[in-house]
Amino acid sequence: MSKVKVGINGYGTIGKRVAAAVNRQDDMEIVGVTKTRPTFEARSAVDRGFGIYVPEGSLQSFKDAGVPVKGTVRDLYGVADIIVDCTPGDVGEKYKAEYEAAGIKAIFQGGEEHSLTGISFNSTANYSESWGAQFSRVVSCNTTGLLRTLSPIDRNIKIKNVYATLVRRAADPGDSKGGPINGLEPTVKLPTHHGPDVKSIMPWLNINTMAIKASTTLMHLHTVVAELERESSTEEILNIMRTSPRVRLINSRSGLKGTAEIMELGRDLGRDRSDMYEIAVWEDGVKVIGSMLYYYQAIHQESDVVPENVDCIRSMCKLEEDASASVSKTDRFLGIN
Ligand SMILES: NC(=O)c1ccc[n+]([C@@H]2O[C@H](COP(=O)([O-])OP(=O)(O)OC[C@H]3O[C@@H](n4cnc5c(N)ncnc54)[C@H](OP(=O)(O)O)[C@@H]3O)[C@@H](O)[C@H]2O)c1
Repeated sequence: MSKVKVGINGYGTIGKRVAAAVNRQDDMEIVGVTKTRPTFEARSAVDRGFGIYVPEGSLQSFKDAGVPVKGTVRDLYGVADIIVDCTPGDVGEKYKAEYEAAGIKAIFQGGEEHSLTGISFNSTANYSESWGAQFSRVVSCNTTGLLRTLSPIDRNIKIKNVYATLVRRAADPGDSKGGPINGLEPTVKLPTHHGPDVKSIMPWLNINTMAIKASTTLMHLHTVVAELERESSTEEILNIMRTSPRVRLINSRSGLKGTAEIMELGRDLGRDRSDMYEIAVWEDGVKVIGSMLYYYQAIHQESDVVPENVDCIRSMCKLEEDASASVSKTDRFLGIN
């Protein structure tokens, strides 16, 4: 069977990771990535063997900088079966008409609204809803984190209400423009958009969220309080989490006290870019009292959505009907176990 041909529009934090993850699979391959400027990232894409496609207006600047180009962004539509749009939030929306006109499939990211596609994607919660779709949207890093842990708990023990507080990283490590660099900034418009975003996939879930931006770049940290339909126990919840895909139980007694140590573990695991694809949940920080569940989880914002993009390609391109088979395959090639 020939491999599905994937183009990446927007080779930044998410795009470069999705490109590397796709090329590790045996049923899909990268046929090109787009860049608008001939930066160091454009050169490193060339070094990795990716063909570069640029907007018509950028051709001259790439020529002047001596960065080889394969064609224009429109040329990429001609050689790809599917585009993974990893452009900055709200930019993807502007490309949708082009993808439609070219008759190709496209995946958007969490910076776009759910209404752009009408379908949002998470491997654990709703893999089959994107089956054969022309457009879908992989939800944001925070929403992915919430869905990875809440959806298996809801499937096993119904959840009545969720209250989550998200301590968000102020910027990605490679970004020198974000902030605050010293301080904490609450999002005062409540509830924050994260709860409704979870509901784009689990519409029945009663969830409200608050968020605080913190001066760190490593990870987001969530505190989650869930009211369950019935009484449960800490052990029952831990057993569910142990078998939930892409959830890694960690223990503070082993030295994993915070996000710094989790990312050090990521470096020790030796994966691409030291990424931590799984949602890290503190095993010794999970507590059930009656029907109330409390836990903490940490999200590596640069990478948790990467395996979901690979699974979303499989669902949209009808490569694998069974969600858990796709998840296992993606994970095997990414070194997630
Ligand atoms: N970073 C995260 O934590 C994170 C996590 C989950 C989801 N997301 C979502 O993923 C999407 C991408 O975010 P990101 O963090 O990867 O952004 P990013 O690091 O800023 O990368 C976006 C890339 O798109 C390129 N670009 C800008 N304007 C473009 C245009 N008009 N056409 C084509 N390419 C263009 C830029 O490169 P050039 O200008 O050099 O071409 C840039 O490198 C957003 O929807 C975001 O909300 C981000």
